[in-house]
Amino acid sequence: MRPSVLVTRATFTDIAGRLREHFNVEDNPDDALWDPVELRRRLQGRQGVMSHGSDRIDAALLDACPTLKAVCNVGVGYNNVDVEACTARGVLVTNTPDVLTETTADFGFALMMATARRIGESERFVRQGEWTKTGIFDMFAGSDVHGATLGILGMGRIGRAVARRGSLGFGMRVIYHNRSRLTAEAEAESGARYVDKATLLREADHLVLVLPYSAASHHAIGAEELQRMKPTATLTNIARGGIVDDAALASALRTGTIAAAGLDVFEGEPRVHPALLGLPNVVLTPHIGSASIQTRRAMAALTVDNLIAALGAGPRAGEPPTPVNPEVLAARRR
Ligand code: DGY
Repeated sequence: MRPSVLVTRATFTDIAGRLREHFNVEDNPDDALWDPVELRRRLQGRQGVMSHGSDRIDAALLDACPTLKAVCNVGVGYNNVDVEACTARGVLVTNTPDVLTETTADFGFALMMATARRIGESERFVRQGEWTKTGIFDMFAGSDVHGATLGILGMGRIGRAVARRGSLGFGMRVIYHNRSRLTAEAEAESGARYVDKATLLREADHLVLVLPYSAASHHAIGAEELQRMKPTATLTNIARGGIVDDAALASALRTGTIAAAGLDVFEGEPRVHPALLGLPNVVLTPHIGSASIQTRRAMAALTVDNLIAALGAGPRAGEPPTPVNPEVLAARRR
């Protein structure tokens, strides 16, 4: 019998269509949001799932779906998946690294620049017909990006790509903090210098967050950290909601503890903290860091490649390109 897979959100039909060459497929062309009960119901008897950040794949779900062998998640981040629970049950998890690195770094840089140069505020001002007097010298005067100090918290692939844009493109002094320090070669290539977190907070003119979400990174930026930043500094979060304490950030933006923020991700998204919505000095976008057509297609294609290979089909049968828990593959080979 052909294996059976579930595609949980609407995606590119030509790409997901490749799954039908190997599997029975249920997809979700209307892009309905399935709650955990519905997801569990639809996963019954299936071997694989093309999952998305909105799907919670936890131990309870896995126990209720014992036929599941592969969770192929669309996205480099996989904090919606309990990888440990998957590994313990022999379920392979894959993600989509590399294909979105440059696009997400472009977006992070754009959001940081929009924040520093007050583009959101200015755009609303013009659109609302408030621009009635020309030549106001300090109107929407922001802070420079070129030549400023760029701080990066989290120095994986995307962090390094943001660093390169800053150092090579904008002549910025780039400092970073990360759990582990890069090699001297990688630091030279990124044009970035390692500092401790306190120095990063104290010296950055523009701080960009690019670290994965975990219990350890929960509220890595809260009231205390914001207090340590320059009052002229900006904060940009393209990583995950929950890394920043959004209530503390709203308060810091309101009281001038820092100058401005650019946020693509939020605690409890799509809900946005109401205190952020009312502030002029924050640029808000709906988690679109990797959303270029080319990159979204590449992410879908890589996920489909992973799922086909994970369930033992196609040219790479048994060897999915980007496993998160390769120990499951090794155990299957034994
Ligand atoms: C990612 O790849 O993790 C993006 O945030 C999309 O979910």
